[in-house]
Amino acid sequence: MRGLNGKVILVTGGAQGIGKATALRLAEENAVLVVGDRNIEGADAVAAEIRESGGSARSVQLDVSSKQSWQDAAARITEDHGGLDGLVNNAGVTRDKSLLKMAEEDWDIVIDVNLKGAWLGCQAIVPLMIGRNGCSIVNLSSESRWGAFGQSNYSSAKAGLVGLTRTVAFEQARNGIRVNAIAPGTTMTPMVEAVPDDVRKGWLDNIPLRREAQPAEIAAAVAFLLSEDASYITAQILGVNGGSAL
Ligand SMILES: NC(=O)c1ccc[n+]([C@@H]2O[C@H](COP(=O)([O-])OP(=O)(O)OC[C@H]3O[C@@H](n4cnc5c(N)ncnc54)[C@H](O)[C@@H]3O)[C@@H](O)[C@H]2O)c1
Repeated sequence: MRGLNGKVILVTGGAQGIGKATALRLAEENAVLVVGDRNIEGADAVAAEIRESGGSARSVQLDVSSKQSWQDAAARITEDHGGLDGLVNNAGVTRDKSLLKMAEEDWDIVIDVNLKGAWLGCQAIVPLMIGRNGCSIVNLSSESRWGAFGQSNYSSAKAGLVGLTRTVAFEQARNGIRVNAIAPGTTMTPMVEAVPDDVRKGWLDNIPLRREAQPAEIAAAVAFLLSEDASYITAQILGVNGGSAL
């Protein structure tokens, strides 16, 4: 992929799953990685794995739902790298329950991490991108943005990310910053491995390719949107979902 060589890119929730796969893929493209996660041991391990394979990576402790944590991370990145070229707002959580069983805390944490976290991230990081060339943000939305049983909190957050993505894309186009989202279908990560087998089998009926995604397949799409190969793509939501007609 063109234009990722030497680009400094922060991946949130980079300790495992799609975030880890994205960090590893970007490192293969010779990007300079900042692996952010509230799980600092996990982020450290991913950064170490990248360095052991000859790449460049540091880890940063980051709770995406905290403005202070974003400010600390932005200050650290400015000190280490002088700015940032790419941001992947990937950190996410689920707290699935049907509407009448869902506690207010289940709503709050899912909105705070998945939606407010990305908003705080854009606010903290856009100033580090202004004045650099070829900067790009990718948010992780989901098929669930159309609504999903037991996910009134998560679906609302992932639909909200569509509005956030397009709005920041419109506002930041003048600064040359492209903003897009990936909407993955079911992807085999610890988040999904927690779902019962019979529920997962039911999902496959709605996926023409009849299988779940692997994290590396989502990572490839994220890398493409961050790269110069996507230089005329902004304000888009790219489904990576095996053809799911949802
Ligand atoms: N796995 C799927 O099927 C799927 C489908 C569509 C969208 N997504 C989205 O992709 C993203 C990654 O999902 P995943 O399956 O890899 O999840 P995962 O649970 O495997 O990993 C999530 C990571 O985010 C980190 N995290 C959680 N809360 C955080 C916080 N407050 N601050 C910083 N880091 C935090 C966790 O420590 C973990 O490392 C999420 O936004 C998710 O909603 C996943």
